[in-house]
Amino acid sequence: MRRILLILTGIATVLALVVGGGVTWIYTSADVSTVGTMDFDQELSIPPLADATVEADGTRVFQLDMRSGKKEFEPGRLVRTWGFNGDYLGPTLRARRGEQVRVRVRNQLEEASTVHWHGMHLPASMDGGPHQMVDSGGTWTPEWKVDQAAATLWYHPHPHGATESHVRKGLAGMFLIDDDASSALPLPHDYGVNDLPLIVQDVKFSGDRFATGRGMFADVGFLGDRTMVNGTLAPFREVGDELVRLRLLNASTARVYNFGFSDDRAFALIGTDGGLLEQPAEMNSVQLSPGERAEIVVRMRAGERVQLRSANAGMGLDFWSRRFSGGDDRFDILELRAATTLRPSPPLPTALVSARLPEASESVRERTFTLEFGKINGQAMAMDRIDATVTRGTVETWVVRNEDGMPHNFHVHDVQFAVTEYGGKAPPAALRGPKDTIFLPPGGSATLALRFDGPADPSTPYMFHCHLLWHEDLGMMGQFVVVDPGQEAAPPAPAHHSGH
Ligand code: C2O
Ligand code: CU
Ligand code: CU
Repeated sequence: MRRILLILTGIATVLALVVGGGVTWIYTSADVSTVGTMDFDQELSIPPLADATVEADGTRVFQLDMRSGKKEFEPGRLVRTWGFNGDYLGPTLRARRGEQVRVRVRNQLEEASTVHWHGMHLPASMDGGPHQMVDSGGTWTPEWKVDQAAATLWYHPHPHGATESHVRKGLAGMFLIDDDASSALPLPHDYGVNDLPLIVQDVKFSGDRFATGRGMFADVGFLGDRTMVNGTLAPFREVGDELVRLRLLNASTARVYNFGFSDDRAFALIGTDGGLLEQPAEMNSVQLSPGERAEIVVRMRAGERVQLRSANAGMGLDFWSRRFSGGDDRFDILELRAATTLRPSPPLPTALVSARLPEASESVRERTFTLEFGKINGQAMAMDRIDATVTRGTVETWVVRNEDGMPHNFHVHDVQFAVTEYGGKAPPAALRGPKDTIFLPPGGSATLALRFDGPADPSTPYMFHCHLLWHEDLGMMGQFVVVDPGQEAAPPAPAHHSGH
């Protein structure tokens, strides 16, 4: 009897050690850090400004060709890619408020896709969501009037169920909007010189392809083991001005970053997703989940090198889950190298733009959106179901709750909303500007005020969804239409653009 007991105890001990060791190994090998390991030997590439022709009536016309290609990301590393007008990513489109723009999109890929203008206020039929598929070989030519404040927006495919893979292969680019108010401010605005677009993505290579596999317990989706900016690995950039503006875009499929600098210096946040804040806000770090943007201004010292870094995004997760969701990961993102003498910059203005966001008191109706893995309000996305019908010209309150154990975010097409409450409190400085995407930690909630200016189109929906692209593809998305007062939603009629 005693002998059996001893043997059993022995087996149990060995098992505990094996399991414990395995768990420890899984835990300790799950985080990634590139901090201090980078040689920053590639010059940051800056996406070219897209050429445009201006027609007699003033319409600014762009051309975007979606195509496949190959790019050597580092010596000896040739990878199959997709891009707009090039091998990887796309040119920066730029237009002024009040301008009419038209984009001729040609799909030269072997599969259907779409091009969505993330953050843009425009008619639903021009939005480039899953209802505006562009067939392989097809052309789609959306046109709209730019009618929103200066902002850093972006564009990317949005085919239902395949957004993650189309974006990861390289289909993404920036769309910058200018207006008189922002041009009149003494902010750094020389594109590629003291005003740098930074498209941040995490990546992992597998032979001549991008790896796609999700790590063990990585329920947020794909997480890469290194980062690149504008498609450049280990990037550095020389800067020659005292003040440098960085337009940060998290174009990753699932990763949340917490951006700051290697010496923890303070910087000024001047803009969020939909444009400038009322006044700059000083901070040491800013968190961006997939799809979100931040415009920051950082002061350089002559001759120095400083790294843009992302560390410990945390994401409100517990010790165990944050490890597998990338919350403990650390990345050196970009090295800024200051010239030995710097051009003096005018001081940052203390006031930027006047208040323009909708207020909670204007709201005529409240809706609730509950997020859980793969579902919103208990349902997965259905192309022919309209989840919300909103009246043109009204302000609504949307309460978004993450009732899951994992992080999500929430993106709404067509509008820039105000965050009136975050986690039951007044929003922090980083959420006080115009937003179109908001992060929600497990158990988190946000109250948003949204103004729907139209135009009305009862049969073409806009999307709202989690911008963790794997979640979106799984159906964490819903649809709303904007109608005229008294009008009803009509069943959506998906359009397929195959003409030339
Ligand atoms: Cu960035 Cu519905 O998308
Ligand atoms: Cu999600
Ligand atoms: Cu058509």
